[in-house]
Amino acid sequence: MSRERAVAPRSVAKGRIARVLESPWRATWALIERVLYQGHLYTWLVPYGVRVLTPWNHPADRTAFGHAYRVAREGGPMLVSGDRCFMLHQFALRAATLPGDMAECGVFTGGTAHLIAETLGAAGTGATLHLFDSFAGMPTWAEPSRDAFAPGDFADTSAAMVRARLRPYRGVRFHVGFVPDTFAELDGNARFSFVHADMDLYPSTRAICEWFWPRMVPGGVIVFDDYGFWPLRHAAKAAIDDFFAEQATVPIVLPTGQAVALK
Ligand SMILES: C[S@@+](CC[C@H](N)C(=O)[O-])C[C@H]1O[C@@H](n2cnc3c(N)ncnc32)[C@H](O)[C@@H]1O
Repeated sequence: MSRERAVAPRSVAKGRIARVLESPWRATWALIERVLYQGHLYTWLVPYGVRVLTPWNHPADRTAFGHAYRVAREGGPMLVSGDRCFMLHQFALRAATLPGDMAECGVFTGGTAHLIAETLGAAGTGATLHLFDSFAGMPTWAEPSRDAFAPGDFADTSAAMVRARLRPYRGVRFHVGFVPDTFAELDGNARFSFVHADMDLYPSTRAICEWFWPRMVPGGVIVFDDYGFWPLRHAAKAAIDDFFAEQATVPIVLPTGQAVALK
């Protein structure tokens, strides 16, 4: 008790100092919110003026995510932001407890494929991870005015390079070529617990929805990248909205820019 009484005045003083120091920050955030954020549907994503859990910013993070994220980033290029990788890891881990295969559509140089493969390896699941990409860039039907990308964008990769990156992982199958043609390489009776859809374009995203959604196991999840990104509002977002308007499921939209459809 006496010790508590002795430190109490100092704690009170520290609290007052913290409040005084905090107040300019709060005023700044309030101003930023008023000027840049209020009244806008699409805004730059920044923190909220209070500290929140962001393990992707902590290089020594010793959690399962910290390890998988470090391995994937050290293995080659990583295009996708840390907050989205964190959500991907959460959903892949959850799906690893379900029956069924897994897939990524939109691999490019293999950043998120590496994260998923490492996550599944650590979880000890025997699921096959199917990877779909042309590995030669966006298809001829990419329309810059709708999709924000042109044919041939993302050509700076190769299947050989990504195969080498993912060589340590078992159960990874490559489907090189254009979706939806390459879906014919899958067993039509296959079932899936997890799909990462990251092909950006309207036709590619729509084809992913149509092929995978009926084949998801109960509890399975499709994580869509690009849903909330303003340049892709007529591309990935429109394809997802159009497809799920005719389904009994409403995708959950995340503030990371992703959307998630749970079967
Ligand atoms: C944004 S990148 C994927 C990024 C990747 N997830 C990463 O971690 O780097 C989109 C990829 O989808 C591919 N793509 C888009 N539509 C496709 C289609 N219909 N068939 C095959 N590949 C396609 C592009 O060539 C590109 O490599």
